[in-house]
Amino acid sequence: MGSKVALFFLLAVFGFSALSAVSADNGDHQEDPGLVMNFYTDSCPQAEDIIKEQVRLLYKRHKNTAFSWLRNLFHDCAVQSCDASLLLDSTRRELSEKEHDRSFGMRNFRYLDNIKEAVERECPGVVSCADILVLSARDGVVALGGPYIPLKTGRRDGRKSRAEILEDYLPDHNESMSVVLERFAAMGIDTPGVVALLGSHSVGRTHCVKLVHRLYPQVDPALNPDHVEHMLYKCPDPIPDPKAVQYVRNDRGTPMIFDNNYYRNILDNKGLLIVDHQLATDKRTKPYVKKMAKSNDYFFKEFSRAFTILSENNPLTGTKGEVRKQCNMVNKHH
Ligand code: HEM
Ligand SMILES: *[C@@H]1O[C@H](CO)[C@@H](O)[C@H](O)[C@H]1NC(C)=O
Repeated sequence: MGSKVALFFLLAVFGFSALSAVSADNGDHQEDPGLVMNFYTDSCPQAEDIIKEQVRLLYKRHKNTAFSWLRNLFHDCAVQSCDASLLLDSTRRELSEKEHDRSFGMRNFRYLDNIKEAVERECPGVVSCADILVLSARDGVVALGGPYIPLKTGRRDGRKSRAEILEDYLPDHNESMSVVLERFAAMGIDTPGVVALLGSHSVGRTHCVKLVHRLYPQVDPALNPDHVEHMLYKCPDPIPDPKAVQYVRNDRGTPMIFDNNYYRNILDNKGLLIVDHQLATDKRTKPYVKKMAKSNDYFFKEFSRAFTILSENNPLTGTKGEVRKQCNMVNKHH
């Protein structure tokens, strides 16, 4: 009797797998593996190497491209989905995310097209802009001296700008720590993860428009007086000339290196943005700031963990979305 049950069970399993094999053959219903390691092994085995090489070549020409790839990760993935919606140009009907005030100062988008073109030459129409955005951020961190982070791929590109909801997802420069922690928690990123991700402000710059409210009409007393002098020198006008590119480097000590010097700066009251300063003073985040200031290894470990979660935020996979031919515009339908 036991064997009859077993036979029935076997037949049922075979029947079921035969059925699912048939439905998998039907191109309309391809199975969705989600994000996986080495998604392009068969379809474009060189994809990750090409991206890495392009990031390296661009970094040699313009070091700040690496800052841009890193910032892209936050501005794309934290807004609902890593779907490269950030890269879309404005259309007659819709403002692009790139042109939104929250994206102020973002740069080097045209060089991302270079990376896409190099990948397209090898494997046309296969590798998504969303994956290129995420992998270039990973490789940019390595170029700057940060950790190497193995990442899954298989993201697909969205067809819609998310500019109209950007503010609901990206915190402002002066956002309260409660709101910042809430927004990252909604993506599954905990407090040490947030502290580590903000360590990205160890490289790059902040324009005076985002700083002058801490200098004029009165200097924010929380700022280190030694740093105030430098900030006033870099930002001499209460209302910065929009045409002059006036900015302060995020980390004067090691401005081009991705390291934990950021945490020592903010503990020293040299954080430029209100959020940077609050990270070092809020009792929820301060213990982690101290730990990361002491240990670069701990910073890198937490950063890699949080980076991975951010890079996997709600992606389009399987047959959702599309693989864009050009990263700045959606494909045309025939
Ligand atoms: C509460 C969260 C955050 C806020 C409010 C914030 C805000 C800002 C602001 C205002 C700037 C200066 C832009 C400019 O004036 O040019 C900046 C720069 C930058 N941010 Fe953030 N940021 C946050 C989190 C992040 C995260 C999570 C990352 C990366 C994963 C990141 C990466 C960068 C980088 C690399 C720069 C320098 C860009 C450059 O020099 O081109 N930020 N951020
Ligand atoms: C944050 O700064 C912006 C200007 O960039 C200002 O309009 C806004 O009122 C400020 N918010 C807070 C909470 O101070």
